[in-house]
Amino acid sequence: MHFRSFRFSLRIILPLALVLALFAFAVVPLVENLTLRWSIRDLDARSQLLASTLQEPLIDYVPQNAATKINRLFDRAIQDERLYALAFCNPDNVLKYKTATYPESIGCGSARVASELYQTTMKLPQGSLHITESPLISDAGQIGKLILVHDMGFIARRDADTRKYVLALFALMAVVISLITMVVAHLSWRRWIDAVKGLLRGGLAQRSNLPQVVAVSPAGSSQTPPEIRPLEVDLRALMYEYNIDRRNRDDAAHLWTPDKLRQLLREELAGDEVLVVSNREPYMHVHTRNGVEVRRPASGLVTAVEPVMRACSGTWIAHGSGSADRESVDRNDRVPVPPANPSYTLRRVWLTKEEEEGYYYGFANEGLWPLCHIAHVRPVFRSADWEMYEAVNQRFADAVIREARTDDPVVLVQDYHFALLPRMVRDVLPKATIITFWHIPWPNPESFGICPWREEILEGLLGSTILGFHTQFHCKNFLETVDRYLETRIEHETSTVSYGGKLTQVENYPISIAWPEDSVHSDVAESRHSVRTELGLPPDRLLGVGVDRLDYTKGIIERFQAVERMLEQYPDMVGRFTMVQIAAPTRTSLDEYQNLENRVRTLVQKINKRFSTGSYEPIILKTEHHDTDQVNRYYRAADVCLVTSLHDGMNLVAKEFIAARDDERGVLVLSQFTGAARELHEALIVNPYHIEQSADAIYRALTMPEVEQRERMRSMRLLVKDFNIYRWAGRMLLDASRLRRRERITTKIRSHSRKSLRRVV
Ligand code: F6P
Repeated sequence: MHFRSFRFSLRIILPLALVLALFAFAVVPLVENLTLRWSIRDLDARSQLLASTLQEPLIDYVPQNAATKINRLFDRAIQDERLYALAFCNPDNVLKYKTATYPESIGCGSARVASELYQTTMKLPQGSLHITESPLISDAGQIGKLILVHDMGFIARRDADTRKYVLALFALMAVVISLITMVVAHLSWRRWIDAVKGLLRGGLAQRSNLPQVVAVSPAGSSQTPPEIRPLEVDLRALMYEYNIDRRNRDDAAHLWTPDKLRQLLREELAGDEVLVVSNREPYMHVHTRNGVEVRRPASGLVTAVEPVMRACSGTWIAHGSGSADRESVDRNDRVPVPPANPSYTLRRVWLTKEEEEGYYYGFANEGLWPLCHIAHVRPVFRSADWEMYEAVNQRFADAVIREARTDDPVVLVQDYHFALLPRMVRDVLPKATIITFWHIPWPNPESFGICPWREEILEGLLGSTILGFHTQFHCKNFLETVDRYLETRIEHETSTVSYGGKLTQVENYPISIAWPEDSVHSDVAESRHSVRTELGLPPDRLLGVGVDRLDYTKGIIERFQAVERMLEQYPDMVGRFTMVQIAAPTRTSLDEYQNLENRVRTLVQKINKRFSTGSYEPIILKTEHHDTDQVNRYYRAADVCLVTSLHDGMNLVAKEFIAARDDERGVLVLSQFTGAARELHEALIVNPYHIEQSADAIYRALTMPEVEQRERMRSMRLLVKDFNIYRWAGRMLLDASRLRRRERITTKIRSHSRKSLRRVV
């Protein structure tokens, strides 16, 4: 209240004070100066006029010495209140005639015989006087001079009057200006506040409630007053960041578990069905010597998405690639999984050899994979592969449409194998919520630009409601690529793309793993012992572990070179350290992968030969499939885990290693080019191309004091436990549910307003 009245008083007082100060210090001196100049000019003119009037009688009277006449003439003249005194001096400057009022001190004025009009002002005890000397010239020549003395007191009186009027005028102006200022300030403040409030409300709703993006007007829209427009983008971006932060904090308040995810599905997506589509299936049925076995493929995607599906139920559509897959499905190509405790349906799609060649090996893995991973392997693009890629995308899209029981399912599209599928599904099921997650990096626009079908891929992906990447950096690359190659409207500050009247939210959702239950792990000491025994190593052998698909993006060559360098630089480690590399064979029919395997084998032989002593070999290479339990035993047995990818979207091996180490020991050496490096700051971060740096990091890890290991591991474990796969899925599904709610409301409003319009018509 006080503040308001203070503000109100300020609005009145301030303009008033300003006007008065202006009046006192500028206007008054100016006006006085002006009036003085006008008055003097006025006096000069009057004096001249008077002098000429008096000249004629004086020219007659002076030669006659007619003193009486002259004095009478003078006395009459000074009847004028402004003319104070008159005097006449002869050519010798002798004062001959004067009025009684004539000040003695003036004498004959300038002590010269003026031949022309001479004017001056003087300050005398009587006040300021204006003195004019005018020569008196008869036909016989100059007969003397007339001195006219004017009283300047009237100027001061006139000044006082003028000041009074000007002051009154200025006071009136000040009041009027104050009132106008108040009204204008009030109106524009309201407008400003309303505009900012509107923006903030829009911004908040827009980001905390993703669906509202649909209603967002473009930057600099007509509703925003022009003075706010420069701030609009910044305000929205600020609110965006605030909301991301808030969302993360809200999320962080509770641990994400399968139950929480299920509850979220029930409450937020009630009655909605979840469909996952990926190339790799979560379970493969394979023929083995012991009959049909079920395998979990070595795939980060499967590791991450499978627990989510177990929690959510629904249907997972994937390529049936196992040798015994066909005989394990029902007549609709479906099989309930996980086999031991089914909780969702796996729907298999069959591909011919040619389709798999063109779509999977060709376009996806010889084209898009090297295109998106900057690992110095050139992408290969063939038209035939592209056609197959399109056809297979259509096949999977048809499967999604067939499996959907409603017209608005939630479809989770996985990875670079299905860039075209989102649009294909969107065209048939416009109400579907399509969440596409790109598991690999997204390169910069120049790199992506070499793909001959770049526009088609971008258009396909923009059929998604949400498009997710692991990192903000990949989102940025994607938006810049869209900006470069498609006609769209992008709002960078809100990370949305508007294309063909539909919005796609481009967001980062760092993927993770399911945090293992305490009971799943065997004793660490037991793992250390059994693994070393299995590998034929003594109990005190320091052990490094690497777990990867045998892929050129994983930096396996560079890792072995670092091990070699470490042994070279720190010979005390020779015979004390062994590196075991689990390398799951992958895409083996492709040349690049065969070459890699050969290079890896040759390098291992070379290093082993160089450092072998007796039975000691520093590297053990295991190029075969290992199931989850086996891999976990290796994680727990290791002193250091090496993740040296040359480029990796996230890399879940890093997170799996951390989750497996409930003893809080072991050190993670992690490539700076993985998405994981942006979260796991306590790992020893290396540039895998810098062999010496990696060698030093391995040595440092092997000699790291236990206390330090514990501190680093504890901190990373807290993070991975919190930011687990349920949170990843939960965040995406929450965003999706908000979008769906919004879409439903918008549809209702639209149909309602259409009906009302028809009624009016
Ligand atoms: O890294 C992305 C990814 O899709 C992983 O999920 C998976 O490990 C790999 O690429 C694909 O491997 P594959 O071609 O054997 O399915």
